[in-house]
Amino acid sequence: MKKYELLNSPITINGVEFRNRIIMPAMGTGMASINGEVTPNLIKYYADRASGGAGGIIVEIACVDAPVGKASLTQLRIDKPEYIAGLKELSENIQAYGAKAIVQLHHAGRQTSPGITGQAPLAPSPIACRLMRAEPEVLDIEGIKKVRNDFVKAAMFASKAGFDGVELHAAHGYLLSQFLSPYSNRRNDDYGGSTENRARLITEIISDIKGLLPELLLAVRFNVMDFVKDGLEIDEGLEIAKLLEAAGADLLDVSSGIYESGQTSIETPSFNPGWRIDLVAQVKEVVDIPTIGGGVIREPELANEVIALGKTDLVWVGRAMLADPQWACKTFNNRADRIRPCITCNTCINQINNALHIRCAVNPRAGREYLFDRNINLINFKVLIIGGGPAGMEAALNLDRAGARVVLVEAQDKLGGLLDIADKPPLKHDITKIKDYLINEIYHSMVDVRLGQFGDLALIEEVAPDVVVWATGARDILPEIKGLETADVISIKEVLSGDLKVENKEILVIGGGSTGCEVAEFLQKNNLVTIAEKEKALAVDIETMTRLELLQRLKINGVTRLLGVEVVEINNRQVMFNKFQENQYTNLEFDKIVCATGYYRNDIIDTSHLDFVKRVYVIGDNRRPKNIMQALYDGMMVAYDLAASCLN
Ligand SMILES: Cc1cc2nc3c(=O)[nH]c(=O)nc-3n(C[C@H](O)[C@H](O)[C@H](O)COP(=O)(O)O)c2cc1C
Repeated sequence: MKKYELLNSPITINGVEFRNRIIMPAMGTGMASINGEVTPNLIKYYADRASGGAGGIIVEIACVDAPVGKASLTQLRIDKPEYIAGLKELSENIQAYGAKAIVQLHHAGRQTSPGITGQAPLAPSPIACRLMRAEPEVLDIEGIKKVRNDFVKAAMFASKAGFDGVELHAAHGYLLSQFLSPYSNRRNDDYGGSTENRARLITEIISDIKGLLPELLLAVRFNVMDFVKDGLEIDEGLEIAKLLEAAGADLLDVSSGIYESGQTSIETPSFNPGWRIDLVAQVKEVVDIPTIGGGVIREPELANEVIALGKTDLVWVGRAMLADPQWACKTFNNRADRIRPCITCNTCINQINNALHIRCAVNPRAGREYLFDRNINLINFKVLIIGGGPAGMEAALNLDRAGARVVLVEAQDKLGGLLDIADKPPLKHDITKIKDYLINEIYHSMVDVRLGQFGDLALIEEVAPDVVVWATGARDILPEIKGLETADVISIKEVLSGDLKVENKEILVIGGGSTGCEVAEFLQKNNLVTIAEKEKALAVDIETMTRLELLQRLKINGVTRLLGVEVVEINNRQVMFNKFQENQYTNLEFDKIVCATGYYRNDIIDTSHLDFVKRVYVIGDNRRPKNIMQALYDGMMVAYDLAASCLN
């Protein structure tokens, strides 16, 4: 049997043939217009993924009743005939590349807010979502009829727009999921109480759609578990699966979690790859229709294995396809080792939660496909890149692909830069994958890599490049604190690289951004650690669920947190703190101090006197210390900027 043969085998569901078992699940991009129309950028985003070889693409949440049903400001709409033309453009662009096009029909119910919809949300019962905190208006029977009708109408619009199928979004705590769950549905009429009653609305919608549009593939995404107290548990989840099948669903997409247990819908790094698949397998055992399952499936081996073991019929690959739209194509063409890996940082969902367009930390193209939709040719350029961290490597790869002659120098004896230590704290192991990927790509390219070489003037004169790219990163900022210069300060690099073994010490980490917190967690294994942060909250620079888990682990592991404090003076082991604005001074004793108070960009060398250097770029942390997303974006932009310049 050929490698990945089962994953690559076609399957026909209700007359719709998928070329393989890989499905891109619905993932909101925030890229529709403010009126909910399909935009050219959105089409390009989906076309890129369809051309990447997936069997099917499930287009993100499309609202069946705007504005009340919207979960975000720039959500797609499918509630009026005027949206059909744009949606048709979208389905055509997916199908043109051989993927089947399904659109997800969605109503937010209570999981939205008046800030988005301009009105109170609708819900089965008067219980507010703890995260959105908007008191919902309870749907009466007329209201329920309208919801039913809205979903059916939306399915008709989807069919007219040429989609192969629709997926009812009855998962993740949105309106249909709210009806299904005892957590949010406390009604005592025909739509509440027993499992059958709670499933009544969705089963009515299914039979209406099937009656009207028998040839349209009808999938249902539902929660097999809610992961909240008094929510859906597996036994009832399985009962619901049977009811959905009996009502006429063609395909079950098995998910879990609601906003209040959001990491069980969109997982954080603490979840194991494929953790949900055994729940999907239980659904598969009780129904005869096919299933889609997934969650943290990043490796083709695992995707193939879950199909081979009969745990699911199709597998969804979500964030991994944001990171690499060619995931399926590379898998089936012996290039699985060339897949750009997702690092589960959840930058993608963080963007959506902040009402921004989708982005991916490791794939600068994601959500910007339109910007990079052109071939560039840089064969006339010789480029010297100084610094082999993520920004330098990404710049080298894009320049090389465009035909430039690239020399990449790195002072260390290996590539990787900060990624080499960023992957050391607990649960940061996925960073290793992007580091290895970039290095592997560099060694598959024509880039002339010179390790252990400083990028000084002599080197620049020797290489004589047309373009110099500075990507030498940044160094720690030491805060101005009286006595710090004589204190026992250790750097983040010394700690994380393992160059310095620190054990059985009392350590103060100054600065409670995500870096400070991660270093604190790393050190706490063998030491007693305190974090001091000026602001009132820690790690505010990362995605909410990942942050909450990090804070929880710090708490459980006994890291002491001093919030709203400033370190004013250090005297040997004694550190004086000032509780902000209150002038309350406290002294505590520590053996060692780590400063996680930010970075300062490294210096660059002036090359303005060198006539052959036509352009200089400063990128990544060397331009503005920030994060891997910025580093990779900066790196990629060098090639595109150069191609657009008058020098080309
Ligand atoms: C940015 C983003 C947006 C999402 N939007 C949706 C959505 O519109 N509908 C939905 O059912 N699930 C949505 N999800 C959940 C995904 O479909 C998927 O279940 C989840 O990302 C876990 O799978 P993965 O580990 O393969 O990414 C979203 C996830 C992400 C990361």
